[in-house]
Amino acid sequence: MSTMQTLHLHANDADLARAAGLLQNGDLVAFPTETVYGLGADARNGKAVASVYAAKGRPNFNPLIVHVPDVASAQKYVMWNETAQLLADPFWPGALTMVLPLREGHGLSSLVTAGLDTLAIRVPNHPTAQRLLELANAPIAAPSANPSGRISPTTAQHVFDGLSGKIAAVLDDGACAVGLESTILGLTPDVALLRHGGVAVEAIEKTLSVGLPQETPKTITAPGQMESHYAPSEAVRLNVSSAMSGELFLGFGPMQCDLNLSENADLIEAAANLFDHLHQLDKIGKPIAIAPIPQTGLGRAINDRLRRAAAPR
Ligand code: TXA
Ligand code: MG
Repeated sequence: MSTMQTLHLHANDADLARAAGLLQNGDLVAFPTETVYGLGADARNGKAVASVYAAKGRPNFNPLIVHVPDVASAQKYVMWNETAQLLADPFWPGALTMVLPLREGHGLSSLVTAGLDTLAIRVPNHPTAQRLLELANAPIAAPSANPSGRISPTTAQHVFDGLSGKIAAVLDDGACAVGLESTILGLTPDVALLRHGGVAVEAIEKTLSVGLPQETPKTITAPGQMESHYAPSEAVRLNVSSAMSGELFLGFGPMQCDLNLSENADLIEAAANLFDHLHQLDKIGKPIAIAPIPQTGLGRAINDRLRRAAAPR
């Protein structure tokens, strides 16, 4: 792939218009969402979507999430149902992705769904993402804006570090508040948890008044479900109470460490810091030891990402 100069854009009117114009032209623009930075492309433009896979080095069979500004827009692409509405009421806009049957005449590139007859769709809550979706006036396919298999980006700098020269622009609007990717729920039509993420399972179960079976999709290999993912370049060791010599120590709660996910043992703060702290430790280039994180609320999603970061490669 030829390299290009990646523009550094900001969340002002002129730059937002420029970012929207690039998307309409079939170019790739990384943009902030409340979860992580996404690598955006017009989901109707097969060439644009193909270049997302190329820029990330992503296996072609992994489908992408489509981002839209509201429920009415989502209904153009998927078969809406009562459960989807029940979940959209409290969680959209926000860190929940729903997988629903594709609607006939959806007009999306088949590369977005990797040929599946379902679509993963989300309404992001970040004001800059919302403005970009409105100006581009297009459904935007966006995986996390990192090279496939590596740590997800929660700042514009993380995106530049991984994808500079491979995409048209990065729209910079600071750090992502949630810091973990969206929770993915299958609704086709049985409810299934496909990925832990920014909305805690407990909150979803409360809304639906049912317990959620966690299913591993059998027909696709999703990067979120791959064993090795979110990987720093050196080894990662989990649930340790102190580091060995030569290791960097990522802490949680009051303790001696190189970086702390949350000194107050706050899982929301830990989620927001997770990928940034992993990026910082990765840059130092030593093995990483990580303190135990409670398996509750956002701790489930944090532990899921850490388990994959530590998995054999
Ligand atoms: O928070 C997020 O979800 C971020 C921001 C940018 O929105 N996006 C994100 O995308 O995490 P990505 O591509 O890194 O992860 C999307 C996940 C993958 O595991 C993919 O396999 C799964 O969604 N997925 C997409 N379409 C699917 C479908 N039709 N059925 C099941 N899983 C699907
Ligand atoms: Mg990803």
